[in-house]
Amino acid sequence: MTTGAFWQEEVVYQIYPRSFKDSNGDGVGDIPGIIGKLDYLKELGIGIVWLSPVYQSPNDDNGYDISDYEAIMDEFGTMEDWEALLEGLHARGIKLIMDLVVNHSSDEHRWFEESRKSKDNPYRDYYIWRPGKADGVEPNNWVSVFGGSAWQYDEATDEYYLHLFTRKQPDLNWENPKLREEVYKMMKFWLDKGIDGFRMDVINFISKADGLPSAGDDRYAWGGEFFMGGPRIHEYMREMNERALSRYDAMTVGEMPGVTPEEAVKFTSPESREVNVVFQFETMDIDSGEGGKWNVKPWRLADLKAVTNKWQYGLNGKGWNSLYLNNHDQPRMVSRFGSDSAEYRKPSAKMLATFLHTLQGTPYIYQGEEIGMTNVQFGSIEEYKDVETHNYYREAVRDRGEPVDRVMASIYAKGRDNARTPMQWDGSAQAGFTTGTPWIAVNPNYASINAEESLQDSDSIFRYYQRLIKLRKANPIMIYGDYNIVAEEHEQIYAYTREWQGEKWLVALNFSADDARFELPEALRGCSEENLIVANYDDEPNRSSAELNLRAYEARVYRIV
Ligand code: GLC
Ligand code: CA
Repeated sequence: MTTGAFWQEEVVYQIYPRSFKDSNGDGVGDIPGIIGKLDYLKELGIGIVWLSPVYQSPNDDNGYDISDYEAIMDEFGTMEDWEALLEGLHARGIKLIMDLVVNHSSDEHRWFEESRKSKDNPYRDYYIWRPGKADGVEPNNWVSVFGGSAWQYDEATDEYYLHLFTRKQPDLNWENPKLREEVYKMMKFWLDKGIDGFRMDVINFISKADGLPSAGDDRYAWGGEFFMGGPRIHEYMREMNERALSRYDAMTVGEMPGVTPEEAVKFTSPESREVNVVFQFETMDIDSGEGGKWNVKPWRLADLKAVTNKWQYGLNGKGWNSLYLNNHDQPRMVSRFGSDSAEYRKPSAKMLATFLHTLQGTPYIYQGEEIGMTNVQFGSIEEYKDVETHNYYREAVRDRGEPVDRVMASIYAKGRDNARTPMQWDGSAQAGFTTGTPWIAVNPNYASINAEESLQDSDSIFRYYQRLIKLRKANPIMIYGDYNIVAEEHEQIYAYTREWQGEKWLVALNFSADDARFELPEALRGCSEENLIVANYDDEPNRSSAELNLRAYEARVYRIV
């Protein structure tokens, strides 16, 4: 197992540029806006920035539909701006990883515009075209991740093209070696500019099963088994490594819905030379009922423990975990896994941060997480901007006739725009994000939740993150230590130990809003208050040497002596 790599030892901060900081008053976040906030990132202490896509795009899916991989989106700035950003980050000792979105491109990409022209166009095989099964019947029954058939009929050549996401995101054909070479060339273009790696968008979707078989007999069905971790995925990842990545000191993290720990080990073990790390989705699924994310069910601490155990034990010594509880596709973690009430927002945000930064792996902070930003509830669907949210609303309300308030409740709980409202910089108009009208409304709670407030308060969530990041740098046990769960059956407290080179820590987290009693096992009774490493309450808890009483969302980390 690797140790000492920057992608293990540094903490990652994800920037969703559209919503981070607008510099010119057009309401859209941009690269000069990010440049103006580099000292803020430096102060937080993160070592790597993951930048969501900034490439030329018609923005059907906010930049995840790319029409030119080697140009910067006009709204975000110029290539010179981007170069200044890279320089500014590097000058502060911060690395930059870029989003690599190559399962699909935009339908406005030059390749696709050529491809759709004729069956013998040289770019035809850059995409996945098939004739219909019969008049009006798609080539197979797969549905897209964002609803509806995964196939779009194109009149020019009387064939359908595959799109696992929106109609404007046609899937690239990885079977075609010419396409693969184009991708590797493009990766080298950015690596040669000096970036430090890639976050790879749905990268385990790129290999589709031979013959593109239908999933069962229903008219439409989820075909994931035929493209998640498909037959040639490891071959492609290895080739990508050989042809592009291996020549650079680059970090790679693969976004992989449906990936298991066993598969993750195959992708990330140093011998396989594929990627350094994967993003798993099992934690994100613990509050999804039958039929997927919109069918929200209450999550249980037992499930969080079970999934975390699976990944912590499963990768120990063999692979490497990425640790996240939210990103641009997920609701805000404090609203989902903690509490966004006035009373408990701060302690629960800090408790969750303690969790993420004391597990084995690399923690990711999504913009605004460090100040405890929360979910939003817009009054009407028109205020939402996300294509997935709109597709869901249309299918649920219009096609299936589900009651609007139930559909809105699902959007409040799970919609991606929860994470995409503008970063709350201060208490001034539009949260200091823009001097104009933001592309999506700011969360009305910006007056009390904002970065300025967080920077002024020595006890803020931001200051707590800063402490955790510093601690992690000074204590390799937080990065590499073996994880072992304690009192697994406890319904409120999540407790575990970390062990590394003769040292042992206890992490005790109350995931509930009620007081919780934790009887310390014999071996852990040496966790006295003198050996406290970090806690989110600043006074001592009510305790004896054999028992710890944790208050609402209390987090305490001890050295065991
Ligand atoms: C990934 C991205 C998401 C995007 C999708 C299609 O899941 O994180 O934002 O919509 O892929 O590119
Ligand atoms: Ca702007």
